[in-house]
Amino acid sequence: MSREIMQRNIDRAQQEIDRNKDRVREGKMRQRYHFMAQTGWINDPNGLIYYKGKYHFFFQYNPYYGFWDYMHWGHAVSEDMLHWEYLPIALAPSEDYDDHMRGGCFSGSAIEHDGKLFLMFTGTANDGKGFEQTQCIAYSEDGVHFEKYEGNPVLRAPEGVPAHQFRDPKVWKHGDTYYMVCGASRENKAQALLYRSEDMFHWTFFNVLAESRGEWGYMWECPDFFPMGDKYVLMFSPMGAGERTVVYMVGDFDYGTGKFTSRTNGEIDWGFDYYAPQSFVAPDGRRLIAAWANCWDWMPFFKDWGPAYKEGWCGSYNIVREVRMTADGVLAFVPVKELEALRTEENKQEQLTVQAEETQLEAGDGVSFELKFKIDLGRTDADSLKLYLRCGGGKRTVCTFDFKNGQMLVDRNGSDGWSEGVSKSDMCLGEKKELDVHIFSDQSSLEIFTDGYTNNHSNNIFAGNEQNRISICASGGKAVLAGIESYGLSGCHG
Ligand code: FRU
Repeated sequence: MSREIMQRNIDRAQQEIDRNKDRVREGKMRQRYHFMAQTGWINDPNGLIYYKGKYHFFFQYNPYYGFWDYMHWGHAVSEDMLHWEYLPIALAPSEDYDDHMRGGCFSGSAIEHDGKLFLMFTGTANDGKGFEQTQCIAYSEDGVHFEKYEGNPVLRAPEGVPAHQFRDPKVWKHGDTYYMVCGASRENKAQALLYRSEDMFHWTFFNVLAESRGEWGYMWECPDFFPMGDKYVLMFSPMGAGERTVVYMVGDFDYGTGKFTSRTNGEIDWGFDYYAPQSFVAPDGRRLIAAWANCWDWMPFFKDWGPAYKEGWCGSYNIVREVRMTADGVLAFVPVKELEALRTEENKQEQLTVQAEETQLEAGDGVSFELKFKIDLGRTDADSLKLYLRCGGGKRTVCTFDFKNGQMLVDRNGSDGWSEGVSKSDMCLGEKKELDVHIFSDQSSLEIFTDGYTNNHSNNIFAGNEQNRISICASGGKAVLAGIESYGLSGCHG
């Protein structure tokens, strides 16, 4: 019976998608090469996996309109992470444990087990005692149609963890054992709880993998844990940690005790629109992450989700990044090489000296482009370098490299008449001879990477095609740029 209810809910949602998708496709703010759903709202990437020759992206999905609401798992597959084929919705709310009207099937992950594709997700219910979150399983023989396990839920919140703060299971296998890390809160402090299982269905608590003493907030959403060389990385999206919203920790892990010890931490992205990254492994062994390019209303800098809802959709994913360990033991997040396939008009210039006067730069059509250069710090004596992006009609986004105060800033206050705020990060220039800058611009986003991809800012801006100029200037002296490269980037959405 319950199988029929889920199918009925999936069919209803599919009909709505079919009814709206042609209209939504015409939306002026639609991204050209970033991952999006056909219609409606998306948030966290879920169940990212390379399975039977294709990348599968599942996603938190309200197919009905451009706001968060009753969550389904959308599903799309791709061979290159650029061009996507949308598959039927994988999970729809249908059971007592996942039918909360303002909830549904929350985030989770995927793994191959027993020749099948398994999804582990958080069911959200309201049984009269409030919002209850439990961990649940669904599986599929063909990787398209999923069935929920009749023994769901497989895990309930442990003693001391409020039932509404126990979510987002990320599963992996080590040896013959399955492991799962899940976000939780105890005494108002965030925890990542580690579980294990021999068969994917019966889970036992193993250890607290890491916890906040207050400095990292009261709840961690979407934790993820993976090896990087001989180290381990824990990523999480903390609630209540100020502007820190996508944190990673690097440390050592012992499978014998389930203990993780870390001394290094960093921010994956300092922009306003990078949240809930999830990792997966490419067939060639690269550890990749995809994240939701937006933010929540509880974040200190939140204004709103932008105007895309007027076009019947909201949300895209930041470009997929490869996680790499640097010689300093911090992590770099490098745009995947697959993106190079999108490059069109190429422009190269060996060197450019900029001063107070604005100099124009060329990059594709000025909307969908990639721009790369190095700042030659040895020959630069300016206090700061300013890059004006998506300029037109008196609007522009200003990216400042402030050498004097060691800061990078992205100012959206004049971007589009909609977005606001200045994202900031510290730059440690020290004895560095150069600073690399790499920018990906799309219709409604700007992703700026610097310092070997360790210092990154992703921000949404909602600018029309008339905002298509780029210029640069320096203040307090000259700045010397070297190895300037730019490309137009072609679209991927048919
Ligand atoms: C993170 C999150 C998750 C939850 C999902 C609900 O963005 O809040 O913790 O599972 O979104 O859509």
